[in-house]
Order: sequence, then C-alpha cells, then structure tokens
Amino acid sequence: MQTWVPFVPESASTLSWKVDALYFFLSGLTMFFTLFISGTLLFFVLKYRRRSPHEVPRPVAGSHKLETLWSVIPFVIAMTIFAWSAGLYFEQYRPPKNAVEVYVVGKQWMWKIQHTTGQREINQLHVPVGRKIKLIMTSEDVIHDFFIPAFRIKTDVLPGRYTSQWFEATKAGTYHLFCAEYCGMNHSGMIGSVIVMEPREFDNWLSGNTSQQPPAVAGQQLYQTLGCASCHGATGEGGRGPTLTGLFGSQVSLANGQTLRADEAYIRESIVNPHVRLVAGFGPIMPTFQGQVTEEQLVQLIAFIKSLQGASQPSAAPGVSSTPMAQAVASPQPANTR
Ligand code: CUA
Repeated sequence: MQTWVPFVPESASTLSWKVDALYFFLSGLTMFFTLFISGTLLFFVLKYRRRSPHEVPRPVAGSHKLETLWSVIPFVIAMTIFAWSAGLYFEQYRPPKNAVEVYVVGKQWMWKIQHTTGQREINQLHVPVGRKIKLIMTSEDVIHDFFIPAFRIKTDVLPGRYTSQWFEATKAGTYHLFCAEYCGMNHSGMIGSVIVMEPREFDNWLSGNTSQQPPAVAGQQLYQTLGCASCHGATGEGGRGPTLTGLFGSQVSLANGQTLRADEAYIRESIVNPHVRLVAGFGPIMPTFQGQVTEEQLVQLIAFIKSLQGASQPSAAPGVSSTPMAQAVASPQPANTR
C-alpha cells in the first residue's frame, strides 16, 4: 500500500489526485526556480567576476523588454496557481447535493460518529466506495480538526458551530483518521480509522446493526419529551411558534427584516439561543435550551427537522433518504436487503 512517491500518503478519494497534481506542480515550480536562480547566480558570479584590481564595470542601461518579460511570466504563473487552487477549493468546500450525511461530534479525546440510519461508531468511520459522503461536524468542548490524509481532506471542528466536508472514496481499505488541532493532553491519541468497504459489504454492515435509533427518530422523541410540540406542532397547531415541516432549507423571514436560509447552524442557534434571530410574526417567548441538550441531541433534533419535508419534496438520490424518519417509522430496518 504505497504510492510511487514514498513520502506521499496513499491516494484514495476522487479529490486526492487533484490535490496531489497541484502539490506536485507547486513543488516542481519551486524546484525549477530554485535551480534556475542559483544556477544563474553562480554563472554570473563566475562570468562577471573582477579580473584586475583596477577594472571598472561597463554601465548597464535598463531593458524594457527584459522587465516586461520578468513581470509577465511571474504574473501568468501566479494567476495559474490562483485559478487552479481556487477551483479545487470550491470543489472541496461545496458538498454535492446528493451526498449521504454522516454526523461527527468531536470531544476530548474521541470522535463520535453517527449515520442517518442510526449506527454509531467511535473513532471509526465506515463508508462505501464510490458514494459521496458529507460529514456534518461539531465539537462538545474545544477545537478539533478532522483529517483524513488519504482523502486529502481536513477541516476544523468547532464548538457551537457546524462545519462540513465531503469526499468520495475510490479504494476499499483502512485509512488513518487524525485530529489535526492541538486539543489538550491526549490530542495525539485522538486518532481512528476510516474503513472503506465495497458498497454491497457496506450495506450489509449498515443493516447488521439495527439496535440503534436513527438520529431523526431519536430527535422526534426529544421533540416530544422537551415539549417542543406544544408550540411547534408539525402542521402549525399550537400556533405559538413557526411550523417545522418544510423548514429545513427554506427561506425564513426574520422579525428584523432579514431573510436567511434555514440550515443546521440556524436551527441549532434557534434551539440554544432562540431570541437572536426571531422569525417574523412571533414573539420572544421560547425558552432557551442551552445546557439542556447535548451536541448529539442537537444533531438529532436537526435530523428530525430535516426529515419533516412535505410530501412534495423531491427525494434525494437512490440510497439516500431525505426522510429518514418517515422511512424508519414505516420499516424500521430492512432485515437484510439482498
Ligand atoms: Cu482533538 Cu486534537
């Protein structure tokens, strides 16, 4: 399991060879100019050395041609690097719409992972080859950083916020998972593995562990036990709070005149700090749930709200359920899919 360059980690995602190509281009460019400049320097030192103590050098007038050349060439090179890496950056930081979501919660010093079907893992992430996976990540305590060298992806995991990254694995195998942000005493032990399986094997793995609740179902129970339903009835009953059906991903008009798209961060904030962004037409009556729900429970509540998409919502890609709750309620788990 080695690549053709011994010090480069294995390449196992659709993105990794693109990152490598850019990296090798930059390294090659650097090497070329290092050799070119030091070679030229050496050549000039020898050629124009002072040959007698009374020698006076010939004065040199400027050359517009030369100056233009050494301005234009670096400009073109710099713009090439910029366009190339910006393109790669946008590709990496815009998760595709049909990606399968996986929730990640970091804490000192472990990674807690939950799949939308309910499977939980600690310091392990099982994924299939050839499917796009989007990680939605947050931290319970300090800043961590989720790093999979073989996939060339690395993103900070922050308390009180959601960050995400995505990948598509191309090769079955086991790869390193690291925390790449110093986070306290056992930071170096905050490691794990990413296990990439063939899709069929992965589906078996996924259906083999049925004892755990999908996050959307756990979220629905929390919604009941925390009493959310009395104000946010699923179809607007209660009337004291905005309806939750179809909320995720929709445009929300706020009391201060702004509008925003309801994403994970907005829903999280509305639960722990409901008065920051009040929805137009509603009073500041909701109590805060700060400290009453853990990060994992917040993720579950968000998964539940995501699952409340009206029947008219287009469904996601095959194998990706946009309504895990509805599915889970209808058929808890297919015993064995094949
Ligand atoms: Cu978590 Cu370092």
